[in-house]
Amino acid sequence: MRPLQRADVEGFLGYYSLPDVQRYLDWKARDRSEAITAFDAMRKQTRLTRPGDVLTLAVTRKADDAMMGHISLRWTDATASQGEVRFAFAPAYRKQGYAAEAVAEMINYGFDTFRLHRIFAITAGANERAAKLLRTLGMRLEAHYREHALFMGEWDEELHFAVLAREWQRSSKVRELPRHKVA
Ligand SMILES: CC(C)(COP(=O)(O)OP(=O)(O)OC[C@H]1O[C@@H](n2cnc3c(N)ncnc32)[C@H](O)[C@@H]1OP(=O)(O)O)[C@@H](O)C(=O)NCCC(=O)NCCS
Repeated sequence: MRPLQRADVEGFLGYYSLPDVQRYLDWKARDRSEAITAFDAMRKQTRLTRPGDVLTLAVTRKADDAMMGHISLRWTDATASQGEVRFAFAPAYRKQGYAAEAVAEMINYGFDTFRLHRIFAITAGANERAAKLLRTLGMRLEAHYREHALFMGEWDEELHFAVLAREWQRSSKVRELPRHKVA
């Protein structure tokens, strides 16, 4: 994972405008020029220095540095040290475990380097792949907003997942001792 580079633009355009990506992203890009504008803005998201800042990293394939997807971490609240993750992967690189591995790495980064207290993710109720990924990582489903808004004439559903720093350490880094070894 690394900051986006100019040369990533074609890889990025290959998935960012797809309907199944657009429907789950905040930043809408209806055509190539809007997607390039989004890319240019994301390329500048390289550090978290104040609340509201976003860090966006490209997830690339080791063999040829091809861009497989991207992950963003937004510092939403300084006082309570909260952050939000968002992510998208090109269809060719899905279903191989890359997204889960990379999102876990970004969460590690948020807790270890930025000392966040809680990291959350919001996804659409119909986004089963994202919900499965977040559950797999041990994030807790804290809310399911049903029909909370209208989106293009249809009811929208929203899932809110989160994990605390101390839970993340317990779930992903500290393995429980097998029962017979516990005194
Ligand atoms: C959300 C999204 C990133 C999930 O991608 P994904 O491919 O389902 O997630 P992963 O890369 O972690 O792959 C997990 C799958 O790989 C499989 N897999 C195959 N080889 C694997 C390996 N070596 N290690 C781990 N998992 C492996 C897993 O079994 C799992 O499949 P399953 O769910 O059918 O059991 C993707 O659907 C996407 O980009 N969607 C559009 C954007 C979006 O919705 N973003 C979310 C906004 S918050």
